Amino acid sequence: MKRVLSGIRATGRLHLGNYLGAVKGMLELQENSDYETFYMVADLHTITVPYEVEVLRKNRREVIIDYLAAGLDPEKSVIFQQANVPEHVELGYLFSSITTIAKMQHLPTFKEKVKQHPEHATMALLNYPVLMAADILIYKAGLVPVGLDQEPHIEVAREIARRMNQDYGTDFPEPKRFATPGQYVPSLTGEGKMSKSVEGSYVNLTDSLEEIKSKIAKIPTDSGKGSEIVGGVKTLMEFVELFEGKEKRSSFEEQYRTSGVRYSEIKEQLSEAIFKELEPIQKRRAELEKDTEYVDRVIREGAEKARKVARETVKEVREKMGLV
Ligand code: ADP
Ligand code: TRP
Repeated sequence: MKRVLSGIRATGRLHLGNYLGAVKGMLELQENSDYETFYMVADLHTITVPYEVEVLRKNRREVIIDYLAAGLDPEKSVIFQQANVPEHVELGYLFSSITTIAKMQHLPTFKEKVKQHPEHATMALLNYPVLMAADILIYKAGLVPVGLDQEPHIEVAREIARRMNQDYGTDFPEPKRFATPGQYVPSLTGEGKMSKSVEGSYVNLTDSLEEIKSKIAKIPTDSGKGSEIVGGVKTLMEFVELFEGKEKRSSFEEQYRTSGVRYSEIKEQLSEAIFKELEPIQKRRAELEKDTEYVDRVIREGAEKARKVARETVKEVREKMGLV
């Protein structure tokens, strides 16, 4: 069966960008019986930038709870924490032997993070894409549901797969990104993408209707009439399409060009539509927070299932590389 792998770093509560760009794709593939799905919390990737130990300890569990609340199902998917499968690190090391420093230094994600934390340009950060390739290829996954910003990393995984197959005769697939309609969710500020690291850019999955309304109200808009749809207005229209459908967007855009639109109504309806999608997730989350034993069991059993597959791949690669 074809395999799928994805992960999200343990940096806090998920937002709509994570949900629409990654989690929705994860859910879709979980429900497709052609695929065997592996979904992890990328806790080892979380320590590539400065972090606090207790915060990480909490967040690596919170993401598992977010996954379960959003509908990932341990009966259908292997749900686990990356650090519980140390084979990822071993395969990452083996992969680093065929990866040049120059290549890693030129990735936009590396440059951005070094800019953010100039005093923290570590080996782990440089190695980020190599470990990510190991995450994917250790399960021989051919499909990776992640947002558009992850494309350069998936490209590195393809290059590593190709190189390993050529040099050592392995049979790694060249993984492709699985894109969702929300593969690039814009920032509420009207500029760039929604991101945890940009204050005022995001709606969290745990936000109340009031919080959503107040955040959506802040999307910058104009007089409500014009010929060109750009900036905050375009952002608003994209959200309308994602939560209320293409037709609604077209009708508002038509009104914008003719009679004009009233943003207060559009924003009110949109906030309601967003909350309608999040409410059941929030209810499940509240239940899961109480059920410590269940969450512990999911984490334990997920690690066991993942390790079984991961061990096989590492054994094969060790043999092919002359380490057995
Ligand atoms: P952030 O940028 O908020 O720190 P992460 O880098 O932790 O988010 O991303 C986790 C997952 O969510 C990745 O698959 C990423 O592609 C996806 N993602 C993050 N932000 C967005 C967005 N604005 N639109 C679509 N997908 C996103
Ligand atoms: N780099 C991803 C992010 O920032 C997280 C991640 C780590 C990942 N390993 C992965 C995603 C493997 C997909 C597959 O969100």
